Amino acid sequence: MTLQEFLERIAEVEARAESLISSASSAAELEAARTSLVGRKSGALSALMKELPSLTPQDRPEAGARVNQVKVAVEDALDTRTLDVTGRQATGQSVDLTMPARRSWKGGKHPVTLVIEEIEEIFRELGFTIALGPEAETEWYNFGALNFPAEHPAMDLHDTLYLEDSVLLRTHTSPVQIRTLQNFKPPIRILAPGNVYRRDFFDASHAPVFAQIEGLSVDEGVSFVDLKATLTRFANRFFGTTRTRFRPSYFPFTEPSAEMDVECQICKGRGCATCKNTGWSEILGSGMVHPSVLEASGVDSERYTGWAFGMGPGRIAMQRFGIPDIRILYDSDMRFLEQLAE
Ligand code: PHE
Repeated sequence: MTLQEFLERIAEVEARAESLISSASSAAELEAARTSLVGRKSGALSALMKELPSLTPQDRPEAGARVNQVKVAVEDALDTRTLDVTGRQATGQSVDLTMPARRSWKGGKHPVTLVIEEIEEIFRELGFTIALGPEAETEWYNFGALNFPAEHPAMDLHDTLYLEDSVLLRTHTSPVQIRTLQNFKPPIRILAPGNVYRRDFFDASHAPVFAQIEGLSVDEGVSFVDLKATLTRFANRFFGTTRTRFRPSYFPFTEPSAEMDVECQICKGRGCATCKNTGWSEILGSGMVHPSVLEASGVDSERYTGWAFGMGPGRIAMQRFGIPDIRILYDSDMRFLEQLAE
């Protein structure tokens, strides 16, 4: 055979391989193609290799190199096509081997969770333990034991969903005060985080489901000084040195009652849309535990006094992270959450 003839036959085999491989649509067809092209006994390329000795010694190197090159290319094409076809069978799609691997995805904590954990840490240092209570509460724990007189208008602010007769979704974490006082003897220092429900409109500063953190300290000789000192210390630990103020307020279960504001961290007290131009942000309600709350829980109100607070970690998160609208905390928008997640 002349070199010319040899090269022509290789070209023929090459063309046949191309059409066989590209038209094969199953692994079985590809196996058949593999046998007829590169099979050791009857493969076309193997047959050509056996012809090499019939060429002149000068022509052999070129012919040999060429036949090897085609053999490698054909085997590669067979392998790729086989992966493609079997991948398509398994998934109904072709496998794109050039597609970058998926990045492993790690979840992060929500900003409100981060704030709750940080607050828990500060109060833990002050000797508070964590207590939890149910989200479905009875009217008695949510209102009665907390000294809400029946039909009192203060309950209008606490409208909620009733599950059955006198069971409702709690409107605040204060029922955990009662459950704790019933089950543990003073001295008591607890922090009770959890979700609460209210018939509030969803606007820039309200949500119908939100987190609260209740605090309760009961012992002999506990006074309003302890309340003010502890909460002021908390604010300075959490926000860094900042101005705070207490305003007189009303809750049926505390007397006297006070709300605590911190200087708006977003405008530094100058006044902005988030603080409604007041320069202050309300972060909690508080007061001295009403004697009738202690008595309802079986605690001697002549011997013990206490103070309590309920704060809104959502509002605090807004202050901490400069979030202008509380609804952003509920949107699950990854572009926002990713910036704060830890
Ligand atoms: N439970 C009150 C509320 O949700 C807050 C509060 C708690 C006030 C404890 C005083 C003491 O509005």
